[in-house]
Amino acid sequence: MPDINITIIDRDKKAHQISVPTDMNMNLMEACKSYDFPIEGICGGMAMCASCHVYVNSNQLLNNISQDEQAMLSEAFHLKDSSRLGCQIQISSKLDGMIFEIAPE
Ligand code: FES
Repeated sequence: MPDINITIIDRDKKAHQISVPTDMNMNLMEACKSYDFPIEGICGGMAMCASCHVYVNSNQLLNNISQDEQAMLSEAFHLKDSSRLGCQIQISSKLDGMIFEIAPE
């Protein structure tokens, strides 16, 4: 099973390296939940709740932000230029080595 390693920074600023499979059609929100990080994903990945808000602390390019994601993020608290919805980031080999930080609640 092809896995990638990514780093998740939790709300206490602690970094955790996790290994995530690329062949299970997961998104970053689901990957974080599978490791019991406190990321809620209330809407189930529909870009409708922002409870999966993360910051991208790496320079690699991700998929473009959709209009739905942009609209939801514009209502999120603690917004930064690096903000994304974890559920809209598909796990793929492109994410290997990237660092994501869970946004404050
Ligand atoms: S899980 Fe609701 S916006 Fe990502």
